[in-house]
Amino acid sequence: MTEAPEKIISVVTGATGAIGEAIARGLAKHPTYEVVLIARNEAKAQKATQRIIQATGNQQVSYLLTDLSRRADIYALADQWSGPLHVLVNNAAASPRQRQETPEGIECQFAVNVLSYFWMTEAFTDILRESAPARIVNVASYWAGDLDINDLEFNRRPYHNGTAYRQSKQANRMLTVAFAERLKDVEISVNACHPGDVSSTLSNDLGFGGHESPDQGAATPVWLATESIGIEKTGKYFSHSREERCHFGENKQAVEELFQACSKYA
Ligand SMILES: NC(=O)c1ccc[n+]([C@@H]2O[C@H](COP(=O)([O-])OP(=O)(O)OC[C@H]3O[C@@H](n4cnc5c(N)ncnc54)[C@H](OP(=O)(O)O)[C@@H]3O)[C@@H](O)[C@H]2O)c1
Repeated sequence: MTEAPEKIISVVTGATGAIGEAIARGLAKHPTYEVVLIARNEAKAQKATQRIIQATGNQQVSYLLTDLSRRADIYALADQWSGPLHVLVNNAAASPRQRQETPEGIECQFAVNVLSYFWMTEAFTDILRESAPARIVNVASYWAGDLDINDLEFNRRPYHNGTAYRQSKQANRMLTVAFAERLKDVEISVNACHPGDVSSTLSNDLGFGGHESPDQGAATPVWLATESIGIEKTGKYFSHSREERCHFGENKQAVEELFQACSKYA
């Protein structure tokens, strides 16, 4: 068993959002955690960083700017990274009401909600492996389903943001299983979770309010990112700090097909 490092370096994507900022704050409450917020909007990132430092007293909080819908930006982020990375929390998501595409022509929800998790994991795998034991926490949802492997970008189906979102959250849970299998021999654990139902830009765009606070929503991701369970378990799905069965991850053929489909977005 490798000894725990003195300082745990962690990254949280979507850290200017409701749950992401609460996750970053939850990590920063641990004095051994250094937290890097990944955001696309500098003004929001600066404010979130300041709020977290003020709330926790942890000075080891900073931000880096990245458009997570773009593979080149994510790989540039990983190329510029120096030093170890022990914890990656994939959390960013969007759910525009009208179908949108990235500059590369990829449907927005598939790019941000699915491919950013995939690309962040791939781009940082070598760094995580060198820092092992390391862990990845994929923020997914219990609201998941309707994944169509032949229409991941809603080119054939009429776009509905709730359907595209549910597909993306199913994909998060399936890809967690795919990466867990691939990374288990290099001491990188990969788990998915439902956070909580929180009022946010995302949930409002989906037509929901949310009855939990951001801190309540962040509790399970923070637990997986800080407690030993997030290292000991891999390929699992959690809700309310409890492991739950995930039937999306049980269809190994479908999991593999999705992994291969995502790999083609190189
Ligand atoms: N809220 C809920 O009730 C709920 C329930 C279940 C699961 N979840 C999951 O929880 C996670 C966080 O959701 P949330 O409710 O906190 O949403 P949110 O407040 O809308 O935050 C979304 C975050 O993603 C960022 N983002 C979106 N597109 C990006 C891009 N292209 N590049 C970089 N960053 C980008 C946003 O940045 P900007 O600030 O710049 O827009 C924001 O920081 C998501 O994975 C979601 O699926 C949420």
